[in-house]
Amino acid sequence: MRCVNGLPVSVAERVIVPLDVSSEQAAIALLDQLPHVTFWKVGLELFVSGGPTILSVLKARQKRIFLDLKFHDIPNTVAGACAAAARHGVDLVTLHATNGKEGLQAAQQAAEAGAAAVGQPAPKLLAITLLTSLTARSLAFELKVPLELPEYVLHMALLAKDAGLAGTVCSPQEAAQLRQICGDDFLLVCPGVRPTWAEAKDQRRIVTPAAALKAGADYLVIGRPITAAVDPVEAFERICEEMATVV
Ligand code: C5P
Repeated sequence: MRCVNGLPVSVAERVIVPLDVSSEQAAIALLDQLPHVTFWKVGLELFVSGGPTILSVLKARQKRIFLDLKFHDIPNTVAGACAAAARHGVDLVTLHATNGKEGLQAAQQAAEAGAAAVGQPAPKLLAITLLTSLTARSLAFELKVPLELPEYVLHMALLAKDAGLAGTVCSPQEAAQLRQICGDDFLLVCPGVRPTWAEAKDQRRIVTPAAALKAGADYLVIGRPITAAVDPVEAFERICEEMATVV
């Protein structure tokens, strides 16, 4: 079994299911439907619709929380947001690597201070290197970044690591290289995962759960193959079984 920061992590705990719904009521319905899911992602839609009370709901049910709000602002503001996230007791928080080293370091310090203030462990901060909706073409011609896309992703991941962040969100197709270069302790959280029996929907560069783990992913973010399945509980269990064959 793979260890994350020295702790063994069971297969089911390595699947993060996104609460991609627009109301707290709909989110609670999903939590009720999937009682064995331990790790949930709260993203922009739900957070902007319902506010932070969903975090209290998740904490009351002793769930782990991936707060995926992708902070990007001046260092003081991002630090304040990370401190607030830490006070909510979330486990993972995202922010853009393009906050720059000063902003990333301020965020890390604030997350630690915010957590210490409430006697909670600090959340792990994850850098967004490049949104997967952006292509090599948009990187070159819209953003005018002179690096090739894989080099840019790697550069941003190393910037985040250098600033003391815990890891990054990446495509499973980038995971092997990031694992090799950023080391075993750097957390890799991968969306874009599809079992062979699920529809790809709008995900493009997809791999199976087993292949993502083999490539070095620590956590997999898997939404619609579970939440939109005819039997979501069965789909979750089937994914865990597939993952268990490679850990
Ligand atoms: O339903 P699906 O498995 O595609 O959901 C994947 C989740 O991961 C969604 O919440 C989506 O917003 C998120 N995500 C992603 N690609 C990224 C970053 C996040 O699909 N690069």
